[in-house]
Amino acid sequence: MTHNMETITEGKITIKIPKGDIRKKDAVFYNPEMRLNRDISILAIKAFKDMAKRKITAADALSSSGIRTLRIAKECTNIEKVMINDMNPTAIEIAEKTAKDNNIENAEFSVEDANVFLSRNKNHLDYIDIDPFGSPIYFLDSCARAASGRSMIGITATDTAPLSGTYPKTCIRRYGATPLREDIKHEIGLRILIASIVRAFSRHNKSFVPMISYSKIHYFRIMGLSTSSTGRAGKSAETIGYAHYCKNCGNRMLSKEIETTSCAICNKDMTTAGPLWTGPINSPLFINKMIDENDFDDKKLSAFLETLEKESHITQPFYDLHQICKKNHLEIPRREKLFEELKKQGYKAEKTHHEPTGFKTDAGYKELLDIIKKLV
Ligand SMILES: C[S@@+](CC[C@H](N)C(=O)[O-])C[C@H]1O[C@@H](n2cnc3c(N)ncnc32)[C@H](O)[C@@H]1O
Ligand SMILES: [Zn+2]
Repeated sequence: MTHNMETITEGKITIKIPKGDIRKKDAVFYNPEMRLNRDISILAIKAFKDMAKRKITAADALSSSGIRTLRIAKECTNIEKVMINDMNPTAIEIAEKTAKDNNIENAEFSVEDANVFLSRNKNHLDYIDIDPFGSPIYFLDSCARAASGRSMIGITATDTAPLSGTYPKTCIRRYGATPLREDIKHEIGLRILIASIVRAFSRHNKSFVPMISYSKIHYFRIMGLSTSSTGRAGKSAETIGYAHYCKNCGNRMLSKEIETTSCAICNKDMTTAGPLWTGPINSPLFINKMIDENDFDDKKLSAFLETLEKESHITQPFYDLHQICKKNHLEIPRREKLFEELKKQGYKAEKTHHEPTGFKTDAGYKELLDIIKKLV
């Protein structure tokens, strides 16, 4: 295994990975594009420190090279131990070697199916990361089982096409929810995924509340807090509802009710997506803590967190400026002008990380369209 190795440094960990085709069945997977995802996990664990009030056990149930949890062991100060599990024995061999090379002594390793690993650690894990190839749905129940009474959970999904409505039948089969292939498809996909996490946790009398949620081109990521409390579990479950969307004019709303009335603006029938999470998907308080903890020298990461923080103050679903103008046969105003006018009228307006032409506002759709009409 010594031939053809590549040395990589990410955060405070140096790792030697075999070069070669990562698509091969037994290949050890290291994806440099997921660095931002891992950096954010580290900041979230740092932000979780005050809430946890004790040293924590952090586990990656599908760890591949182990880079994520090894970085957690090295870069976070509140770690009792890390648990590194993958079905692929070569991956765990590399993780063990990397732990040794980086002088990490509080790491435990296992080669098991993630569901077996998690179920074996019932109520025991304070941080759990689920980062599979594809959908995390197959691991959510055992993740909920393994979560300790006060825990932080990080879930990645790369099956963005079903969740965003390109393959609606797959989304219905996998998540029991109808997606929506319109401008807000990524936010709807995230909300469907959150609802699936919440339902899995509530089956185990545990709550789940998202703290930081985002979409990227190739994946969705949700990190949230879980507590073991039947009352809170019930409250999270009650936040599941639907999105109603008018394909004619682009009007949209989140609602606890499945029933729709016709569109209040154009009177056409509305389409329903969900079940999905109707509550806030980002917590300004939590993201601000992460920003305070951020000592990475990475402008992209800082800018990304800042965008998320700003948009987290607006809980309504986002709009795509180009799409809503197209649907309503309007010229596209300059975004700066639109924001200026919205703010002048007392509304909030922020960019969203979801789409370059997307934005969020707390103005009603009719008021928003009136402002656009006035500007163009
Ligand atoms: C996307 S990689 C994980 C990357 C890693 N978490 C990181 O941050 O770099 C997915 C891993 O899941 C492992 N895997 C797939 N199915 C599994 C299962 N049922 N149980 C345990 N590991 C599994 C694969 O061997 C692969 O290493
Ligand atoms: Zn309408």
